[in-house]
Order: sequence, then structure tokens, then C-alpha cells
Amino acid sequence: MVCGLGTGSTIAHTLVRLAERVREEKLSIVGVPTSLDTERKATALGLALTTLRSHPTLDLTIDGADEVDPDFCLTKGGGGALLREKVVALASAREVICIGRSKLVESLGRTFPLPVEIVPFARTTIIVQIEKLGAQCTLRGGSAKPFLTDNQNEILDCCFANGIQDPAELDIALNRIPGVVENGLFVDLAHVLVIADDDGTVEVRERSN
Ligand code: A5P
Repeated sequence: MVCGLGTGSTIAHTLVRLAERVREEKLSIVGVPTSLDTERKATALGLALTTLRSHPTLDLTIDGADEVDPDFCLTKGGGGALLREKVVALASAREVICIGRSKLVESLGRTFPLPVEIVPFARTTIIVQIEKLGAQCTLRGGSAKPFLTDNQNEILDCCFANGIQDPAELDIALNRIPGVVENGLFVDLAHVLVIADDDGTVEVRERSN
């Protein structure tokens, strides 16, 4: 299988278990990492890696999320890897999202801000445009030393006080702003949710449509 490897603290555990299973069960899996951090961790664990150029379509991706709504829409990018994560998700036949139950919300963007990856040159004009869409933007890392993504872009964390009413519409509106590279809304990309509870039990939900 060709498997997308997500990013974040949840997926760090997945990588460890996947490496064990590859060893113990002699599974034939190559991974496409969604960040430099995951690439480093996967390499250290001995997982075989490949690229999207060699494998433009993937069988499965396992990733985390920051928030998940009842329609399987997600926000991602808390770790700054949203662009590569979204590209890999679209290329995957199946996207499995592993979360703790506390990440299930009624509407996205209210408590966990929506990350938007932007070209640094366009930062101030983008902030004006995004604030017209009803958000408060904060430059991740601050203006003295902005956080830079693996693609050398900046991140605006956008808080929507009333929540995101229509994720699909906002996804399009954000990506139409020149200088926005990608936003952390994942609409119609997740197929399966693996929801963990504190007592160690797990609920698996499949998207019906
Ligand atoms: C990385 O940029 C993110 O999209 C992560 O997948 C998301 O923030 C979940 O991360 P944790 O598993 O660390 O909560």
C-alpha cells in the first residue's frame, strides 16, 4: 500500500505502531509524509518513504485534526502542515482522521482558530480581506519572528466568534484571495473518524455519503 502519513502529536503514535506492524507482519507499505517533521520521525522508525511525484494517488492516509463537525468537515493546521496535508488528502482513496472526543464540535472555528497559509508579501492585504469575512486574524509567531511553514509561508490563525456557518463556502472564499496559498478547512475529504475516549475505547464512524 501507499499510505499518506499525517502530522501532529496523535500521528506520532500512529507512526510508532505502523512501524511495529510493518516489522512484525512484514507489511509492504510505503509512506508519503505530510511534513518535514513526519519525514524525520518516519525515517528514524525505519518506515519506507516515497513522494507524490512517484505515487500521485494513495490508497490511504491517516491524519489528525484540530476540530471535526457533524458533517465530517475538519479544521487542520495546528501544526502548520495544512497545505501538504490537504494535497495528500485529496490524492487519497481513503482519509482516516484520528482524534480525541474533545475535538468533536457543533460548528468549526469558534474555539480553535482556522489556520490560513499565506505568502508573506501579501500579509496585510490578506488580513483586511479575511476580516471582511468575519474573522479576527493573528499572525502565528508574531510579526518580529513569524512562524514559517515547510513551504516558507506564514500562517494566519483566524478566529470566527460565531463559528463557521458554511465551511464549503468559506473554503472557496478564502482561496480566492490572492496570496492565500491554502486554508485549513477540509470539506468532503475525510471518510472515516477514529474517535478515542479517555478510558482507551475507540469509536469508528464512516461517512455515509
Ligand atoms: C498539523 O498541521 C495539523 O493539521 C494536525 O494534524 C492537527 O493539528 C492535529 O494535531 P494533534 O494530533 O497534535 O492534535
